[in-house]
Amino acid sequence: MEQRLTKNFKVKDSHRLEVSRAQGGYQSLAKLFQMKPEEVINQVKEAGLRGRGGAGFAAGLKWSFIPKNSGKPVYLTVNADESEPGTFKDRYILELDPHLLIEGIIAACYAIGAHVSYVYIRGEFYFPMQRLQAAIEEAYQAGLLGKNILNSGFDLEVYIHRGAGAYICGEETALLESIEGKRGHPRLKPPYPAIVGLFGCPTIINNVETIASVPYIIQNGVQAYRAVGTQKSPGTKLFCVSGHVVRPGNYERPLGYPLKNLIFEDCGGIRGGKKLKAVIPGGSSTPILDANDVETVLLDYESMEAHGSMLGSGGVIVLDDTTNMVDALGNLARFYAHESCGQCSPCREGTGWAAKILDRMLSGEGRPKDLELLRSIADNMAGKTICVLADSLSMPIWSYMKKFRGEFEAYANPNH
Ligand SMILES: Cc1cc2nc3c(=O)[nH]c(=O)nc-3n(C[C@H](O)[C@H](O)[C@H](O)COP(=O)(O)O)c2cc1C
Ligand code: SF4
Repeated sequence: MEQRLTKNFKVKDSHRLEVSRAQGGYQSLAKLFQMKPEEVINQVKEAGLRGRGGAGFAAGLKWSFIPKNSGKPVYLTVNADESEPGTFKDRYILELDPHLLIEGIIAACYAIGAHVSYVYIRGEFYFPMQRLQAAIEEAYQAGLLGKNILNSGFDLEVYIHRGAGAYICGEETALLESIEGKRGHPRLKPPYPAIVGLFGCPTIINNVETIASVPYIIQNGVQAYRAVGTQKSPGTKLFCVSGHVVRPGNYERPLGYPLKNLIFEDCGGIRGGKKLKAVIPGGSSTPILDANDVETVLLDYESMEAHGSMLGSGGVIVLDDTTNMVDALGNLARFYAHESCGQCSPCREGTGWAAKILDRMLSGEGRPKDLELLRSIADNMAGKTICVLADSLSMPIWSYMKKFRGEFEAYANPNH
């Protein structure tokens, strides 16, 4: 399969402008500036590009929500916070092909009429941030950023904003608050950022991989983009595989690719001759799949949904048959309790209660009513809060307890 996002990853010095250009970098700009902004939006819509940050929202459709002639500046914010456990794809783009991201930023800003873009980078990503900063400087020097890019008449400034280590700042409105210099608290929606976003102005927020997918669409067109993937989930996606496999790592595959092939062929199967027990398919919040699901599920939005899960960010965590599922869920609950911003009572209290109950069960002090209690906490968090961080723990609680009921029942027994 033709690599689109990762084609330069193995090229020496792929992060440098001259190497990127030698590999075809920035070639899409000649086509871009011949198109009208609405044509760019339509091309991305027709290509069917869906957001790669987790929810899979159609990128072109989101761009079309920017009001015309609002009289306010428009912003593009690129989400490079990448803090979801199990997800490590965007950092590779930042480190190994930052110019692909910049090329995508130019296209997206041109389409939505933005002349300023912020890239919000996870604070711990110091090295990726340095790589992107150096690439931005090279692009300015080459006339690819700044005033009158390549004599097109289009101006664009790109700034990096570093986070300070809060997972919640990956949530798009918390991210905007953070750029504005405030505490990273998610905002109530509506209004959505496309209408009232950064500094009260229309703003598009897209994931790094989403934006890095755009140059291929501009350069090669809709048909070429749709040549791989499925009708509803076209194109390729990065899948970052971690956990108990022989060859963990980042794999670019067409959407619709069998998860089984990814694990057993590309990643070399389960390490140490053990058996597959479960897979978290798309970052820590996505409902867990068991070994039976893995036989049939495909890596696309629709197949994942049909199997009761989500494609999410593409962070695939593989667990072998020695994994204690109560321990695994306890680990997640501690993470979400720690990262809750505390604005909503169901999330602030519920994530902490779930973590305490699971820790108590793990310490041998489980009670028969604990499973019912966990279930009711999950039910009372989901859909009742400002952002979906609370749902991100409800979904694992429901799915782990459903698929691995026996293990949870054993821990809820005082004689365990
Ligand atoms: C708690 C939380 C954390 C998130 N973290 C990220 C993140 O690190 N990176 C990301 O792209 N999206 C993250 N998202 C999703 C963003 O809110 C947003 O949907 C996404 O950046 C939109 O980009 P896309 O349409 O290109 O996928 C997070 C959402 C929530 C609720
Ligand atoms: S759901 Fe949790 S993280 Fe999200 S706004 Fe409410 S308290 Fe904060």
